[in-house]
Amino acid sequence: MSSRVVLITGASSGIGYAAALAFVRAGDNVVATARRADRLEQLAQAVYVLPAPRGELLTITADVQDAAAMQNAVQQTLERFGRLDVLVANAGVGHRGSVVEADWDDVQTLLRTNIDGVLHSLRAAVPAMRQTGGGHIITVSSVAYNLTSPYAALYAASKAFVSSLARSLRLELEADHILVTDFLIGRTATEFNENRLGGGKRTGQHTPTMSADRVAAAIVQATRHHPKTVTLRWFDRLVIWGNILLPGLMGRIARKQYR
Ligand SMILES: NC(=O)c1ccc[n+]([C@@H]2O[C@H](COP(=O)([O-])OP(=O)(O)OC[C@H]3O[C@@H](n4cnc5c(N)ncnc54)[C@H](OP(=O)(O)O)[C@@H]3O)[C@@H](O)[C@H]2O)c1
Repeated sequence: MSSRVVLITGASSGIGYAAALAFVRAGDNVVATARRADRLEQLAQAVYVLPAPRGELLTITADVQDAAAMQNAVQQTLERFGRLDVLVANAGVGHRGSVVEADWDDVQTLLRTNIDGVLHSLRAAVPAMRQTGGGHIITVSSVAYNLTSPYAALYAASKAFVSSLARSLRLELEADHILVTDFLIGRTATEFNENRLGGGKRTGQHTPTMSADRVAAAIVQATRHHPKTVTLRWFDRLVIWGNILLPGLMGRIARKQYR
């Protein structure tokens, strides 16, 4: 399999970081973007000690909230590697708290990161993919995309946007040979909870947690088979189907966890 060029947003920690390492290990060339330059430097050091053969890494400091920064990241990708095959639109932030009382700056950051950020990333990436006849977009959404839960509504709604977008985008980009895969992932051991906006840091202590490496391996695998959606565990499927079939019950269970 020849190496691909993969642009990952939010590659300074957690799932994005693990995915960057997994792609480089698989021989792909990776463009890792995020805001924290020091953490991207740590990623570069980790790549440096990987055994050969391995792909190359380019790190770019970029905020997904900034459309021009994402256009610039794609431009630098083309200058360095000549093409863009895969976008992993992973950067995101959580939020917990009341819809009505939430701090407005937090709400804006949430929406600008999880919604605008995905749009800026794919609007920059798609023209580059079209130039070379196709590509693959992976959106990192959440089992929360259809969650019925007090105090998690804003985050859930932001991921509902991502998953809804991914479903239709797959059809919209079909003619360009650009495929779209939406990851509906559950609780993963990353810095996500520490970085979460809003209040109530206690959450989901009793929900099973998977490693970022497991999600990263599934992301690499998805670039070989291009499924429409990926859900990794039975527990996550249970949450999704529970919210479809028994939203009232799921909401009452979630209320106890998220308050
Ligand atoms: N962990 C979970 O349990 C879980 C469950 C379901 C879905 N997810 C989703 O998985 C994705 C990755 O999260 P994670 O769990 O790996 O959490 P994480 O360790 O906190 O990583 C989040 C990444 O997003 C980046 N990011 C945040 N705001 C950004 C911005 N404005 N511009 C550019 N990059 C930004 C962060 O980098 P900088 O701060 O350096 O910019 C970081 O690299 C998110 O979309 C999240 O919603 C996570």
